[in-house]
Amino acid sequence: MGKGERQEKIYNQALHHTEMDLDKIDINAEPPIEEPVRQYYFIAKCREWVEGFERKAGRCPSFFTQTFGCQMNARDSEKLEGILRAAGFKAADSEDADFVIFNTCTVRDNANQRVYGRLGELKGRKRRNPSMRIALCGCMMQEPSVIEKIRTSYPFVDLIFGTHNIYKFAELMYASLETEGMLIDIWEDTDRIVENLPTERKYPFKSGINIMFGCNNFCSYCIVPYVRGRERSREPEDIIREIKRLTADGVVEVMLLGQNVNSYGRNLKHPLTFAELLQEVEKIEGLQRIRFMTSHPKDLSDELIQVMRDSKKICRHLHLPLQSGSTRILEKMNRRYTREQYVELALKIRSEIPDIAITTDIIVGFPGETPEDLEETIDVVRTVKFDNAFTFIYSKRTGTPAAAMEDQVSEKQVREGFDKLLKVVQDTAREQAAKYVGSIGEALIEEVNGDDDGAQSCQSLVTGRLSNNMIVHVPGDASLIGKTVRVSLDECKGFYYMGTIL
Ligand code: 5AD
Ligand code: SF4
Repeated sequence: MGKGERQEKIYNQALHHTEMDLDKIDINAEPPIEEPVRQYYFIAKCREWVEGFERKAGRCPSFFTQTFGCQMNARDSEKLEGILRAAGFKAADSEDADFVIFNTCTVRDNANQRVYGRLGELKGRKRRNPSMRIALCGCMMQEPSVIEKIRTSYPFVDLIFGTHNIYKFAELMYASLETEGMLIDIWEDTDRIVENLPTERKYPFKSGINIMFGCNNFCSYCIVPYVRGRERSREPEDIIREIKRLTADGVVEVMLLGQNVNSYGRNLKHPLTFAELLQEVEKIEGLQRIRFMTSHPKDLSDELIQVMRDSKKICRHLHLPLQSGSTRILEKMNRRYTREQYVELALKIRSEIPDIAITTDIIVGFPGETPEDLEETIDVVRTVKFDNAFTFIYSKRTGTPAAAMEDQVSEKQVREGFDKLLKVVQDTAREQAAKYVGSIGEALIEEVNGDDDGAQSCQSLVTGRLSNNMIVHVPGDASLIGKTVRVSLDECKGFYYMGTIL
């Protein structure tokens, strides 16, 4: 078999396995065209660079990743870390590293400001360690104005790429390691999904799984459809294969991720509903818990409610963003449901699945929102009794329809409204949590509890997550991490419980 042919065979094998053997790649050959094998080739090239670094510096190069924003970004960062590790970089605890990468978010302006703040701090570090490489990726990089600002104000950045070409990280990293100056590669859109690249997991026992990318909803305040592109679903076989591999590797809980999981599968060649996908995931042996987010109320089907109700593995938690409780504002937000439809849906879910926790997102200060609109939102919070709610101050995102709307709300009105809403949200969440005191639940132990409660009582505590996503602290040690235990919920401390293992 000729050299080229052998290389081809190895690449083909890689298409059917998660990771390919880097030692078998001929890095002196031309780079392959096909993905993901092309990226494995560049990981091998980066590894060669790492070996050169080690010879010169007498140590491994280190990396540091910082993730801003949502769970999708957290999962993307695990993929970046998987590639950095495969190339031979070692994780560092701080930004004093040889390769620093910020995976950014732009959903609200404060996320952008935090990135600029952190970048400012990096400047001094790079002066002390001139061989340090700085890379930026994620949603913020899809905005041309951001790229302009980085070019002019942060010229020490080495590599910038976006959300659509993140799968090319190995190739881009190699190009950046081999060149001086700023390398920028931003794509406007993509219809590609590249499978089977290496990934790293933050927790050995749980993992996020992307089931779809992008969003087609164009809520009028939201930048996500512009920076993450059109909706694309992964093939169910790929999802199931990934979860099976994860469970074989010790994962007991998965979180299926998408901007709007309820519209999963519509654009597949053989369409499949989200509820059908869940039923397939449920069958995977060894998997104990299934979570998912986020659900758009307009697409949440009765079929999904039934599947959740009858499932032994789907957790009793639904994140169902309300955004506003005023039909008038919902219309301006382009949410495509009314206040009444939302309330009816939430109450139906509560009656079908009584032990479910419903959490939500609410925006305060959307253009044109009056104190009366906010009262309607507060009224929905009281009616639905959210178990938790993330409240956000409206942030104007350039390029979205809402940014051009008149009557932006005054800061004073927003502040007052926000505080008022927050109080109701907290009271409701506390009331909901108190309902379960004295009951028994199953908790997946996630980590050793680092806060004061344990220290004061000189007893070590661990933190577990209940099916309904609430947190419980119980006496125990690190050996319990990753185990599911039955606990009694002895005391409610507002947003978490103190309990005991039974
Ligand atoms: N301003 C404030 N909050 C926003 N969100 C999305 N876009 C904006 C914005 N422009 C919130 C929504 C969404 C959550 C992830 O972020 O509530 O559900
Ligand atoms: Fe943004 Fe709406 Fe899509 Fe969610 S559903 S990502 S809020 S546009």
